[in-house]
Amino acid sequence: MILEMSEKSGRPSATTADDITAEVLRSFAAAPDARLRRVMESLTRHLHAFVRDVELTEPEWFQAIDFLTRTGHMCSDKRQEFILLSDALGVSMLVDLVAHNRPPGATESTVLGPFHREGAPEMPPGGNIAHLDTEAVPAYVSGRVLDTSGRPIENAVLDVWQTASNGLYDSQDSALDELHMRGTFRTDAEGRYLIQTVRPVHYQIPSDGPVGGMLRATGRHAWRPAHIHFAVSAEGFEPVTTHIFDAEDPYLEGDAVFAVKESLICDFVRHEVPPRFTAEFDFVLVKHPA
Ligand code: BEZ
Ligand code: FE
Repeated sequence: MILEMSEKSGRPSATTADDITAEVLRSFAAAPDARLRRVMESLTRHLHAFVRDVELTEPEWFQAIDFLTRTGHMCSDKRQEFILLSDALGVSMLVDLVAHNRPPGATESTVLGPFHREGAPEMPPGGNIAHLDTEAVPAYVSGRVLDTSGRPIENAVLDVWQTASNGLYDSQDSALDELHMRGTFRTDAEGRYLIQTVRPVHYQIPSDGPVGGMLRATGRHAWRPAHIHFAVSAEGFEPVTTHIFDAEDPYLEGDAVFAVKESLICDFVRHEVPPRFTAEFDFVLVKHPA
C-alpha cells in the first residue's frame, strides 16, 4: 500500500484503518520501561485485532464503555466487580496458570476471588470458624503442611475463609456486622493443622451487577462448586493461595470462574455418631530459591 507522506514531517499525513495500528505502536516505541512498552504494544495489537475481527459498531463500543463504567461504580471496600469480571472471563485463572509453574507434588494455586478480608482472628488448633452457623453439621478439616520432600513445616500459617451454609460470605450478609467463617491457624511441630467449620456449599457469584448481566445475556450460570479458601504461608517458602473443593459437588464441572484443578478436590466424609464431616488435605509448599 502506498501512503501519502506529509511534506513537513515525512510521516503519513492521515490516519487510516490500514495504518492506525502501526501508528499507535510507534507512539509507544520510546517508552522508557521495556516491560511497559511490551505490554502496551501487545495490548494495542490484540485490541485492534479484536475490533477488526468483530467489526465493532459504534453503539457496541458505547455499550462497552457503559459496561466498564458501571463495573467501576459497583466497586467499594466490600465489592470488587473488576476482579469478578476478570474471574468470570477466565482471566484470573489464566494469570494464575501462566504465573505459577510449581514443581510436581507442590500444592497448586487457584483464584483469590473477591471475598478475602484482612484481620481474620488467629485461632487455636480445632478453633471453630463457623461459630454462628449453629444449625449446620460440623466439619473438621485437618492435614499437614509439608515441604516438597515430605518434611513437616512447623508454624506455617493457614488463612481460611468460606461461605456459611446459607451460601453467603460475611461481607454479603446484611444480618452480620462481624467477621465470620474466617480464621488463621498455625501448624504444630509435626506440621499439623485442625479447623472446625461446616461442610462448604455451592453458591452463586454476585449477579446483581454488570458481571451478572453479562452471564444472563450469554446464557451462563453463576454457580461455583463448594470449596474452602486457603492462603498458606511459612517463612522461607513460596506462599500459595488456593481452595479445597468438595469431591461430591455437581458444579465441579462448569465452575463459573474456571478455577477447579483436579489436585484440589477433596472428600468430605460423613460420620453418623455424632453427626459430622471430616476432610483431610495436605498442603505442600516450595522453598524460596536460596
Ligand atoms: C470465591 O470463591 O470467593 C469467588 C471467586 C471468584 C469470583 C467470585 C467468588
Ligand atoms: Fe469462594
